[in-house]
Amino acid sequence: MNKKKLVFSGVQPTGNLHLGNYLGALKNFVSLQKEMDCIYCVVDLHAITTFQNPNQLRNNVLETVASFLATGLNPSKSIIFNQSAVSGHTELAWILNCISRIGWLSRMTQFKDKAGSDKEKASVGLYIYPNLMAADILLYKATHVPVGADQKQHLELSRDIAQKFNNDFNCKDFFPLPEPLIPKNVSRVMSLRDGNKKMSKSEESDYSRINLKDSADEIYKKIKKAKSDSDQIPDNLKDLEKKPEALNLINIYSEISKSTLEKVLNEMSGKEYAFLKRKLAELLINEIEPVGKEIKKLLVDKSHLESILKKGKEKANIIAEENLKNIREKVGLI
Ligand code: TYM
Repeated sequence: MNKKKLVFSGVQPTGNLHLGNYLGALKNFVSLQKEMDCIYCVVDLHAITTFQNPNQLRNNVLETVASFLATGLNPSKSIIFNQSAVSGHTELAWILNCISRIGWLSRMTQFKDKAGSDKEKASVGLYIYPNLMAADILLYKATHVPVGADQKQHLELSRDIAQKFNNDFNCKDFFPLPEPLIPKNVSRVMSLRDGNKKMSKSEESDYSRINLKDSADEIYKKIKKAKSDSDQIPDNLKDLEKKPEALNLINIYSEISKSTLEKVLNEMSGKEYAFLKRKLAELLINEIEPVGKEIKKLLVDKSHLESILKKGKEKANIIAEENLKNIREKVGLI
């Protein structure tokens, strides 16, 4: 049995990364690289399941690498590469397309959300996207996958696929069942305009999210305008939970200030939300503005970013090819 712990995660290069990506995933990526071997992938093949402008896609891949580095990923500790550079991802995805069941895929809520009301017009790629995600993880026999809560269902599917492969080919423990690592309070950072929707790159209003490249002034304005509540801040979690926008702001505050929700409520109860917003904007500016500046600085030297991807691809490819050899053999491919 493969007992070695290995972390894998991916981020789509579809534009500005935001506070949800940062708190839900990137911060975890950085702390995990201190304890385990980690592979972080810019998943360009996932991005093209919806149409991407080719020039923009190329830029977005480099910007995602710059965001990885600016938040603290170290390419000499972690493998950083783009998915399409290692062809094993698509080869294994095909094999897993034959393992995964249509019934399993049709239960994926993210497909339903992304495809919208006219599912007939969604790309086939969008539908089988979770199989490619399973291939990303299983290609390296990763054991731990840091993600936000929105990816939990996809991770469960990856486990089902791994289990079925192990059963079908009578090779117990061949693929480890990957464990999701989901942060507790910020597993789902919500939109600043609607506390029932997750913060996302695809929401139309830029005021719904804090982008990693936002200036201090933009962060300040967005937090000031964020929806909250006209009552004062309550002194208990039960009342707070009835107000999703307020809960979201307090969750973000508690995460960035490294304080528990209870402590934050003790400190803030009876105060107006304007008070919380001023403090939250200050903390966010301190944390996010330097990241944005670093991203912009790194983007000036594109060849440096490309060389990181090239080195990462070489390292990833060695692991992928070794595992693929065994996978082909299990399946009976010569
Ligand atoms: P993506 O590109 O949508 O998001 C990247 C990471 O950010 C997390 N995230 C959030 N976390 C908290 N609150 C939010 N509002 C929020 N929005 C995004 C996501 O959960 C994710 O961890 N399918 C994946 C990419 C992927 C992948 C993989 C991940 C492809 N292959 C293999 C893990 C393992 C996605 O679209 O993430």
